[in-house]
Amino acid sequence: MNRHRFPGLRGKWARLDGPAGTQMVDAAIDAMADWMRSGHGANHGGTFAAALATDEVVERARASVAALLGGDPRGIVFGPSMTALTMHFAATVGRTLAPGDEIVCTRLDHDADVRPWLIAAERAGATVRFAEPGGRGSDLELPAAAVEAVLSERTRWIAVTAASNACGTIPDLPGIVAAAGRVGARVYVDAVHAVPHRRMDVGALGSDVLACSAYKWFGPHVGILCARPEVLEELAPDKLRPSSDAVPDRWELGTLPFESLAGVLAAADYLQSLDWAGVRAHEDALLGATLAGLAATPGVTIHGAARDRTSTLMFTVAGYSSAQVATHLAEREIAVWDGNYYAWELFRHLDLEPEGAVRAGFVHYNEAADAERLLGAVGELAR
Ligand SMILES: Cc1ncc(COP(=O)(O)O)c(C=O)c1O
Repeated sequence: MNRHRFPGLRGKWARLDGPAGTQMVDAAIDAMADWMRSGHGANHGGTFAAALATDEVVERARASVAALLGGDPRGIVFGPSMTALTMHFAATVGRTLAPGDEIVCTRLDHDADVRPWLIAAERAGATVRFAEPGGRGSDLELPAAAVEAVLSERTRWIAVTAASNACGTIPDLPGIVAAAGRVGARVYVDAVHAVPHRRMDVGALGSDVLACSAYKWFGPHVGILCARPEVLEELAPDKLRPSSDAVPDRWELGTLPFESLAGVLAAADYLQSLDWAGVRAHEDALLGATLAGLAATPGVTIHGAARDRTSTLMFTVAGYSSAQVATHLAEREIAVWDGNYYAWELFRHLDLEPEGAVRAGFVHYNEAADAERLLGAVGELAR
């Protein structure tokens, strides 16, 4: 779908590396170039036209991202990456924790939503408890019960992914948010992998903070928090003295990348314009064909399956390391990822270290020919 909107897809490569970063949509590329060419490049908070234009682009970017995620523009925080924002947020939360307080993390999560909480808890004398995804090998679900099993009256925050960046599993987020409410815990959702695949609505979900990264959804490298403004108000992040104390500004360290925010604004508008039912059907068809083809290929093991999942899959091929498979595919101009993609806990949970696994991810701009090329090239390795 919409391949013509992605100039980066003009070459011969089958780009199945979307989970590591997608191609930018033309509107975002144009918006960034226009911004830089327009003479608008000025800092924010000034009195002259270029500075006022900067204020406007920041405001419009917050509004567009809030509309995309179903949040409040006053809760949109921009930063260099999801990892940097989560480190900052967890460290700030950490200063509110007392010894004996508990944080719940999951073994399905990317390390960016685990390690910051481990560090914060360790400094506070708090405890981190892990929710375990169920099943080995083919089944990998994270039902609400897996989180409920480690909740207690001392749970202060739950950090959970909206979708695994390794195998696509989508946990039961509504059930987890409801369970959090019953013990008075807050929920921090890592939606970095989910946003290009599913329409998120934090208002309906009721999560406290949702983190994502625009380079995973066809925009530039900007990390984003979409928080309930009251949560941002309650907490006191480290900041410089002259910078604004208002929310969300007090969470943003230093000068924002204004040209990139012009791109974020355009990418968020693009995402909102998508036919999401069509995207889902297209991605599911690519996923289904690829899973069926890989399952029929001798020597291939698919890791992780879930009833609800994105079009991201991981597999190993008997007799080859994941790096060897990825290199074989790269030689045929097929871009995939190998290793653990920072899904640190999950790879240990699945006994996939140190070999790793190959990850192929489809987003809406991929086409059936990409899946066919992947299957053909993996088939060459079959034994
Ligand atoms: C699920 C998930 N969470 C967090 C991150 C980290 O995002 P960032 O690169 O913006 O720090 C990634 C990046 O791959 C990811 O896939």
